Amino acid sequence: MQEFKNSVQNKEYEIEFFDKHAEKDDYNVFTHEANLKLIDAFARYTALNIGSQVADLGCGSGVFTKLLVDRGFVATGIDISPKLIGIAQAKYPNIHFQIGDAEHLHYENNSLDGVLLSGLVHHFSDPSALASEVYRVLKPGGKFFAFDPNRLNPFMYLYRDISSPFYSNVGVTKNERPILGSVVQEIFTNVGFKTNIGYLSGLSYQFIASKKMSQLLPIYNLIDSVVFKLFFLKKLSPFVLTYGVK
Ligand SMILES: C[S@@+](CC[C@H](N)C(=O)[O-])C[C@H]1O[C@@H](n2cnc3c(N)ncnc32)[C@H](O)[C@@H]1O
Repeated sequence: MQEFKNSVQNKEYEIEFFDKHAEKDDYNVFTHEANLKLIDAFARYTALNIGSQVADLGCGSGVFTKLLVDRGFVATGIDISPKLIGIAQAKYPNIHFQIGDAEHLHYENNSLDGVLLSGLVHHFSDPSALASEVYRVLKPGGKFFAFDPNRLNPFMYLYRDISSPFYSNVGVTKNERPILGSVVQEIFTNVGFKTNIGYLSGLSYQFIASKKMSQLLPIYNLIDSVVFKLFFLKKLSPFVLTYGVK
């Protein structure tokens, strides 16, 4: 297996988990409407022009890469799981996908207009090397946009944070946990970006690995779509967005 140095992310966990997942199913956890909402947020917060060169890092089976292409971006999907990339390439033969580690990208310095960190940052306990790599490959003025589960959200915290008494590791890798936007923002700021934070709710799930929790999904989706729209609860939304410019 390829050796990965200078990183605290256990790459083997990721590859093993997502390759195994790919043997059963593609990875497409949100509803189509939620996927569109995320790509709308990417387009709005980055304000990138049509035709911009964008890398979708942690693209999984390519759902978001396809939506980026549909929006007029020239997008490439990159993921560390060979089997998910195999699914993505079979589903979308006209889109370019590549197996790769987001901390060690094949791009030249200053070569991309945009980077979508596609539910990826929360898979690193220290995303500093990831942030530096994104900074390296973006052109001056290039934009990044990340979406991740928000540690301030009560559901995300209780169900997915290892310090919670209700923590479940069903359907997640050992590397991942919900994150604080302020922490991610600081890390991306430290490598040179001008950064900002946003919050997103109303992203309905269509799939969750635990059979027990699947029965509660309609209730979760309902609460998510109603409660976190209230402006004073915005910061508690299930997803935190970190975005910025080089
Ligand atoms: C939560 S999934 C998101 C998949 C897809 N973007 C989505 O939102 O449906 C995280 C993805 O990141 C990928 N990943 C994890 N670590 C990575 C790394 N170091 N480089 C590239 N991809 C990575 C995993 O293989 C997985 O497909």
